[in-house]
Amino acid sequence: MFITFEGLDFCGKSTQVKLLKEKLEQIGKKIILIREPGGTQISEKVRDILLDKKNSEMHIETELLLFSASRAQLVREIIIPLLNEGYFVISDRFHDSSIAYQGYGRGINLNSVKTIQEFAIGLAIPDLTFFIDLPLKEIEKRRTKFGANNLDRIELSENAFYNRVQQGYIEMCKNEKRFITIDGTKSIEEIHKQIIDVVINMVKKNE
Ligand code: TYD
Repeated sequence: MFITFEGLDFCGKSTQVKLLKEKLEQIGKKIILIREPGGTQISEKVRDILLDKKNSEMHIETELLLFSASRAQLVREIIIPLLNEGYFVISDRFHDSSIAYQGYGRGINLNSVKTIQEFAIGLAIPDLTFFIDLPLKEIEKRRTKFGANNLDRIELSENAFYNRVQQGYIEMCKNEKRFITIDGTKSIEEIHKQIIDVVINMVKKNE
């Protein structure tokens, strides 16, 4: 099974990814956790280029292609082989991030972004995608607390950009069945329970 997590930076995805991994391990599943961009030697190098604050001259088309290149490598080197070996693959972000951030956020033609994603991921389409929906106000609070100096190149984008990304995710959730929207204002435990219920249900269906 291939499960992805999506949402704005600071929505709490990474905490939930770790909790889900622990839970599935407890019930004896083989798990691999990955994060995007990154996850292979080549993809980590691309990640460094993408997130480096010094690369402020990067064009949005370059940005889209680099995220997609990093992903294409991850799919073929890690995701497909491990899915074939019966692993649960859990990814902190995947192709929907490019649709939300580069498509809705940066304003690159959505059809072009989607076509590039189809090429990059091939058959590695997630079975389930959790979108952790947290109001922009709360995201801003968390971002301020984190401190501007610690933000990466993408996280330095303005609020209007984040608003478009958020609206993009909401739109995508309406259009595709594999999305589950999670209320990110709930407690960590409540969110975890909701996620586990969905995943366990799906595991049972597939058994
Ligand atoms: P990261 O530090 O991994 O952020 P997070 O912990 O929030 O996932 O940095 C990834 C940044 O890159 C994040 O701001 C989202 C952005 N991003 C895109 O713009 N497009 C993409 O396709 C992906 C995977 C990430």
